[in-house]
Amino acid sequence: MSPRTEIAAAPSDLLEYIGSSADAIELVDHIDWTRLPRQIAVIMDGNGRWAGQRDLPRIEGHRAGISAVREVVETAARAGIGALTLYAFSVENWKRPQSEIDALMELLKEYLARELPMLLKHSIRFNAIGRLDGLPMKVQRDVRAATVATAANTGMRFVIALNYGGRSEIIDALRGVMADVAAGKIEAAEIDEDRLCEYLYTHDLPELDLLIRTSGELRVSNFLLYQIAYAEIWVTEKLWPDFRRLDLLRAIVDFQRRERRYGSVEAGDA
Ligand code: IPE
Ligand code: IPE
Ligand code: MG
Repeated sequence: MSPRTEIAAAPSDLLEYIGSSADAIELVDHIDWTRLPRQIAVIMDGNGRWAGQRDLPRIEGHRAGISAVREVVETAARAGIGALTLYAFSVENWKRPQSEIDALMELLKEYLARELPMLLKHSIRFNAIGRLDGLPMKVQRDVRAATVATAANTGMRFVIALNYGGRSEIIDALRGVMADVAAGKIEAAEIDEDRLCEYLYTHDLPELDLLIRTSGELRVSNFLLYQIAYAEIWVTEKLWPDFRRLDLLRAIVDFQRRERRYGSVEAGDA
């Protein structure tokens, strides 16, 4: 890694949280704090394999994944990331055994209840995206409660994708557009990329700059299909339960070393 040229101090909040190991110091030194990804999205994958390697039931992998969620949320918030979007349950995940689905929903409820003080402490604003009305009522209620409890927070946006599908999101956006055209609120001819974005679940989030996937799979599994158009993709072999605070910083360092061209011949900003 070549040393960065710009000098902007790492947030002291973060330094306190990641400690002063040689790895932590080196990573922090290579991050340009003026050029952080605006939004990071994560496909948290590999919980089942993590459990399988230990002869444990898959649900134990999901349970172990909670500590990775906790660390990544707190690291991102302390680092000053604008928004963090985690893929927790896809529209396709209903194909899993009912016992696994129930356990995942239960873990989500436990997570929200337990993490609320941390979200408030760091002024993190939480919400969920996806077809939320398809979730069990108890989960909908807890998601709503955490959304309301953090609504006035002004720090990082923390978004969990639940019963989420990228194609469903585009269909829901199209339905919204068509309803507004029918109601005479907008003209069909006014629809362009910016207007369509206003109908996506992510309409109030900053640009997605970095997509992380764990456990080595090279696919996007129906996540944020519209939003990843020019996102940088970073894949690690690590299984999600093994993902730690420094791994997020590694992804940021790699992101900043990439040249983003947006179809042009030289690097530039979106
Ligand atoms: C990701 O881990 C968690 C969810 C999809 C909820 P998996 O459960 O997909 O783990 P693997 O891919 O089977 O290892
Ligand atoms: C993607 O992981 C969905 C989530 C992380 C919630 P999956 O494990 O469900 O995706 P595939 O089956 O590998 O594509
Ligand atoms: Mg998987």
